[in-house]
Amino acid sequence: MHTAKGIADGFDPAFYESALDALTANVAVVDGRGKILAVNEAWVQSVDLHDLEFKDYGVGCNYLAFCDRLGTPGAGTVAAGLRDLIAGGPGPFRHEYALPLAINAIWIKLSAVRVGRVNDPFLIVAHEDISTQRRAELGLREATARLLHAEDTERRRIARELHDSTAQYLAGAKLMLRSLDAKDPAGTTLLRDEVADLLTSALDEIRSFAYLLHPPALEHLGLAAAIRQFATGFSRRGDIALTFEISDDFPRLAHATEIALYRVVQEALANVHRHSGSERAIVGLRIAGEMVLLTIRDFGSGLPPRRDAVPGVGLEGMRLRLEFLKGHLTLRNAEPGLAVEAWAPFLPEGQD
Ligand SMILES: Nc1ncnc2c1ncn2[C@@H]1O[C@H](COP(=O)(O)OP(=O)(O)OP(=O)(O)O)[C@@H](O)[C@H]1O
Ligand SMILES: [Mg+2]
Repeated sequence: MHTAKGIADGFDPAFYESALDALTANVAVVDGRGKILAVNEAWVQSVDLHDLEFKDYGVGCNYLAFCDRLGTPGAGTVAAGLRDLIAGGPGPFRHEYALPLAINAIWIKLSAVRVGRVNDPFLIVAHEDISTQRRAELGLREATARLLHAEDTERRRIARELHDSTAQYLAGAKLMLRSLDAKDPAGTTLLRDEVADLLTSALDEIRSFAYLLHPPALEHLGLAAAIRQFATGFSRRGDIALTFEISDDFPRLAHATEIALYRVVQEALANVHRHSGSERAIVGLRIAGEMVLLTIRDFGSGLPPRRDAVPGVGLEGMRLRLEFLKGHLTLRNAEPGLAVEAWAPFLPEGQD
């Protein structure tokens, strides 16, 4: 334990020393004015490791003033939380934030408790470096977003292949069957009709499969028309009345944007149907400055309280698809109902 002699009046470091030194987290003992009285062994090693310019490992400095000087939102929250603790607020105070260092930022998980006398408190402030975990989480989000994007591209390729190639072969075979001479030997007519029926079924299946994989309207007419087409079918099937707030001359967008926003509409309307209990919804699409804003608003129950929420893949998928495009998703309880707002940068067609 590294302790400043003389400034730790009323605090007996021997009492804490062995326990705090045994911890892997960096721990500082701070007095009621924010002054660092002592730091543990892990703190000393961390200061050396990151080559931080802390005089005497920060002992004697004011922790709160340091946070104030950093001026980042994370440090501001920490300073406010610690002041609240010192003033008698309930602990422990916990917060995760990024600490900017000379080369890059590290992610810190901070946990603080108050100890000592009511009118002369101390804080034990523990910091864990969770940068590796954070980087892994961010990497995973990015990889999942890439995967979703790759899946969309692949679906589009398969749909096009099925529609433009396989379906054409089948249609050709049907035509050839029809052109077979009617004076065929007896018995072949029945056979020919059966084969024609099979080909018709195969064609229907392939067309609807291709449609589900990647609706042709999205490719040929663009997002606005594809949304109208999908949503009209949806309201027929689901008894939900839909209103569109989409101008007739809404422009074509980059492919990746059109696909991602289309999937958001599909997923959000599926949620309206499954969870909201609403009888109507509004789908809006507009350009807002440099962004495109897609809104799906219902008039049902709204999101359940956080504690009752069951995490699904729908909302997370929307969020990741938009983050991949450098956009974002906002959910707003609109009383009544839920407003899903999908923001994506406005990129005109061809600028993928
Ligand atoms: N429009 C809505 N109205 C009310 N609650 C909603 C709405 N949309 C989503 N929710 C709530 O949010 C939760 C998460 O939605 P999400 O789409 O992520 O998962 P899910 O629909 O339950 O399952 P899936 O993974 O099949 O989509 C839902 O279980 C539901 O409680
Ligand atoms: Mg869902």
